[in-house]
Amino acid sequence: MSAASTLMRSKRISVDEALGKVQSNDSIVVALAAAEPAGFLARLHTVAPRVGNVAVATCLPMQAYPFYADPAMRGHLDHDAWFFTPPVRKAHEESGTTSYVPNHLHRAGLDRIAYRKPTMFVGTCTPPDRFGFVSLSLSVTYEREMVEAADLVMLEVNENLPRIYGDTIIHLDDVDFLMENTREVPTLPSTPIEQKDALIGASIAEMIADGSTLQVGIGGIPNAVTAMLMGKRDLAIHTEMFTDGMVDLFEAGCIAKTAHSFGNQVLTGKMVAAFALGSKKLYDFLHRNPAVALMRGSWVNNPHTIARNRKQVSINTTLEVDLTGQVCSESIGSRQFSGTGGQADTAVGAQMSDGGKSFIALYSTAQVKQPDGGCKTISKIAPTLTPGANVTLHRADVDYVVTEYGAVRLKGAPVRERVKRLISIAHPDFRAWLQQEADRLKLSA
Ligand code: COA
Repeated sequence: MSAASTLMRSKRISVDEALGKVQSNDSIVVALAAAEPAGFLARLHTVAPRVGNVAVATCLPMQAYPFYADPAMRGHLDHDAWFFTPPVRKAHEESGTTSYVPNHLHRAGLDRIAYRKPTMFVGTCTPPDRFGFVSLSLSVTYEREMVEAADLVMLEVNENLPRIYGDTIIHLDDVDFLMENTREVPTLPSTPIEQKDALIGASIAEMIADGSTLQVGIGGIPNAVTAMLMGKRDLAIHTEMFTDGMVDLFEAGCIAKTAHSFGNQVLTGKMVAAFALGSKKLYDFLHRNPAVALMRGSWVNNPHTIARNRKQVSINTTLEVDLTGQVCSESIGSRQFSGTGGQADTAVGAQMSDGGKSFIALYSTAQVKQPDGGCKTISKIAPTLTPGANVTLHRADVDYVVTEYGAVRLKGAPVRERVKRLISIAHPDFRAWLQQEADRLKLSA
């Protein structure tokens, strides 16, 4: 038996033994999304009767785990969430166990350590190689900092996780305990591209030069944008989230692969991200791929790092934009919908880069369910943000805004000009109303 196998065996415990290590007042942080430790989380609620004041920090949980879905957990296991998913939204409204953590993504790990130092980090990893190194695989958004800061590090070993290179690689000496949990890696369903996605994608693609470095955000529209970039040359990837669209760009020959074609990227020749979420095809692409580096989010998403790429383009989506350019991408009114994530990190970093651009894309309208069961069409470009809405991207940091009716640039423009430009890309049915409201609010003067 190799030294790595012996080391692995010596650290192996069951999920119940791992749960036995949770104590009152613990601060637990778990890995995000497809890297989450599902075995541990599925049974975490069982410790509730014997513990109090345990904080559990998550980001993008993929399932409705009882530790946050059950109201009886309050005061025993309190859930702090960096990014809401549908089950977290439901729990937030119904069980009251969840509280949102406002954070720019690149600060998430470091700010957590300063706020409540993690006593326990629980994540996932690949089996070790012959030297005893495992890969944290699908996320190092904040996980690497947690491995370094937590008193206890426990990882679920999943043989199906892709072995991804970069800051993901750690030695078993840095891990206290390992749990076996080989299971299917969670995937994201692919979203069909609608006509309005294609229009938005085409507007943005027109403004992306060959040799640009791309960041593409979470949501339906960004997938359409990558689909519209086929035909571009020598693109590079420096993004928060690695997506299926980036694999398609690589396979279509749009990503720079030779020393001759590499642009002026901070990590030359690598497709750089902090985490990956998508299909099995994406995970297979990432496995042992020397062209990919998942690097810690505090570095990848730091605007200063992003700014060092040339022609960095940031493409993100939003829920609501007001006529002065304030962008709300994380709440519908006061109802927390998702999270700040790296929207501001990437938008600001891209605009600091030489030749960089930042795009905020949205459909011009949304269908909103009414209490009587009907549906109402609203304009997502609004005179003012809905009361309670959280500003994700400050209006001074907004560059281009794009809908299916076109793209306008707000950077540098006074409010009166922003009003004109935003109304020109609003849905035609709402333009007259928006103008009346702008006049009433003295925004057009
Ligand atoms: N008022 C009311 N409801 C609205 C709305 C508005 N202004 N805008 C959208 N909605 C509704 C939609 O109708 C949809 O409802 P449904 O689920 O019943 O169909 C829902 O909200 C989601 O809207 P959609 O446009 O489909 O969202 P998405 O899945 O494309 O995600 C964001 C968009 C903005 C939520 C997502 O990109 C996000 O969380 N961004 C912030 C983080 C970020 O950008 N990080 C960047 C780096 S990864």
